[in-house]
Amino acid sequence: MTELWSDMARRTKPYKAGEQINTIDTIKLNTNENPYPPSPRVVEALQKALTADLRKYPESDPEKLRNALGEYHKVSAAEVFVGNGSDEVLALSFMAFFTPGKSILFPSVTYSFYPTYAALFDIQYDEVPMGKDFTMNEEAFYQSAGGVIFPNPNAPTGIALPLQSVERIIQENPGRPVIIDEAYIDFGGETAISLLSRYDNVLITRTMSKSRSLAGLRIGYAIGSELMIEALTRVKNSFNSYTIDRLALTAAEASIEDELYFTETIQRIIDTRERFKKVFESIGFTVLPSSANFLFVHHPKVPAVQLYELLKEHHILVRHFSQPETERWLRVTIGTDAEMEQLAQQLFKTVDAWTDKNTAY
Ligand SMILES: Cc1ncc(COP(=O)(O)O)c(C=O)c1O
Repeated sequence: MTELWSDMARRTKPYKAGEQINTIDTIKLNTNENPYPPSPRVVEALQKALTADLRKYPESDPEKLRNALGEYHKVSAAEVFVGNGSDEVLALSFMAFFTPGKSILFPSVTYSFYPTYAALFDIQYDEVPMGKDFTMNEEAFYQSAGGVIFPNPNAPTGIALPLQSVERIIQENPGRPVIIDEAYIDFGGETAISLLSRYDNVLITRTMSKSRSLAGLRIGYAIGSELMIEALTRVKNSFNSYTIDRLALTAAEASIEDELYFTETIQRIIDTRERFKKVFESIGFTVLPSSANFLFVHHPKVPAVQLYELLKEHHILVRHFSQPETERWLRVTIGTDAEMEQLAQQLFKTVDAWTDKNTAY
């Protein structure tokens, strides 16, 4: 039957998202969702938006939200693009900025959607090896043929690249697009927004899924020079002009207005992250320094896949990636203190029982 498939459908290797098991007794720490609900102002605005107006299309150009985001980030509305989750913004960016035949660069350990988009859009790429400590070697990203993309902080490591290194990568790729995926920047690291006034080859992508607890509504956006935004808009309007639905627009606008709730929830997550980093270390884990809402952890005595499976048996979901560079590690999303406490207790028991029965691996 695959003779009916296009070349694109045949060559693509679809991304596999973390399991969405939503039973009440599951502690879900596998997809970097926020453990806290969205702002009460978002919920109130959504309730008010449930009217007969849903029969109408949303705005094709979400001007009000672009204005609000521009004001929030101190850029003009013309430098803001809004999309249906940052995954969509990233996919549109691959179409708008990367060209078949001109190889792009991204880190070898990174967001696994990048190779998927590259395969889909027939973009060649080189995966830049990481340092032993999972840091990015800045110089290896200089002089790309077709552009660069990386998350900052990186995923699944959580490690942030200093702003000077980000700037050097931009400077060393003149005339080539540099896309910085800042999905986790609200939890640490330094945003590259301040560089936008000096470089016009930069696009920064953001999401409301993580720091604003709105993964269920799919809201992402990008900030970049007017020319970069125009390219994205051209591609979007050749694909699906109403990408953001009315409810998502309402929620995004309300979320931006509630700065206090936003900063308070982020601080809670950061405090929990730092507290449980020490707890995991006390159980014998190596924990990478994280500037995100997750920890990347490795135990020298218990194989990560065993830990993943044993935790799952106890209804605790974390993420295990089976690629050679990451198979010995687990990514743990920061949950509430109570969820993290349950995880720590289970880890303690599991490590203890395993090391009693097995020698080091
Ligand atoms: C690095 C990175 N970029 C982008 C995304 C996508 O986020 P969104 O929910 O906005 O599509 C994720 C989600 O896990 C991510 O880890």
